[in-house]
Amino acid sequence: MTLPREGSSSASKPVAAPPQEAEDGLIVVRRPRLEYGDGGAMWRLAIESGVLEENAEYTYHMFSHYFGETSTVAEVDGRAVGFVAGFRPPYRQDSLFVWQIAVDESVRGRGLAAAMLHGLIRRLSPRIHYLEATVTPSNEPSTRTFRGIARDLDTGVSEEILFPGDRFHGPSHEDEVLFRIGPIDPERVAEYALRQEQQAAANGIRNLHKVVDS
Ligand SMILES: CC(C)(COP(=O)(O)OP(=O)(O)OC[C@H]1O[C@@H](n2cnc3c(N)ncnc32)[C@H](O)[C@@H]1OP(=O)(O)O)[C@@H](O)C(=O)NCCC(=O)NCCS
Repeated sequence: MTLPREGSSSASKPVAAPPQEAEDGLIVVRRPRLEYGDGGAMWRLAIESGVLEENAEYTYHMFSHYFGETSTVAEVDGRAVGFVAGFRPPYRQDSLFVWQIAVDESVRGRGLAAAMLHGLIRRLSPRIHYLEATVTPSNEPSTRTFRGIARDLDTGVSEEILFPGDRFHGPSHEDEVLFRIGPIDPERVAEYALRQEQQAAANGIRNLHKVVDS
């Protein structure tokens, strides 16, 4: 399957996302859209992460089109610097499964992964009560990111092998451990968001991230 070719009636070049009235250097977090070319940006970030397995660019266009509501991109001055690709499993609609998350090296360690995940949880609250993702045991930043979300929302996290390493063909593969965070209380979600806003205001600093749900 391919995207419409240029020149066909429904074909369109990616158009720049509309300006979000962002101050210079402010990271804007929003839902991805096919027409903004976000799929290609997500694909580039996945490849450049140096950790995520390589997938076809098609996959990311598909996420930006069909799973935009459960996914996120982060950009600074119009350049994508992070994304989350997620979906709600058809048989467990109360859960958000995060298939991939990546943050550009230039902005790692500043809380962007956590901000994108909290933004998504807030967007989908109260429809979801669990956040799921698989993590390989050697990936400490990812492990800490997901445990941190559970801590922020005052809930638990179970960790069980979902896809054993020996299920994978090719070169050796680590176990993929399913992190299942929850149950997530919508009140905790709202409280966390408020706390973040109050903290930023009290410190007299501008927010590093701005979550817009356009
Ligand atoms: C995992 C990743 C998305 C985290 O993004 P980030 O924006 O740097 O993460 P945050 O700043 O929100 O930090 C989240 C937690 O990870 C920890 N962390 C961040 N970078 C770390 C590092 N290099 N080593 C150890 N811990 C690290 C932070 O300290 C924080 O934990 P804490 O709350 O307990 O202090 C990013 O490292 C990445 O893109 N990695 C490559 C792709 C990948 O591994 N994706 C996950 C596959 S499941």
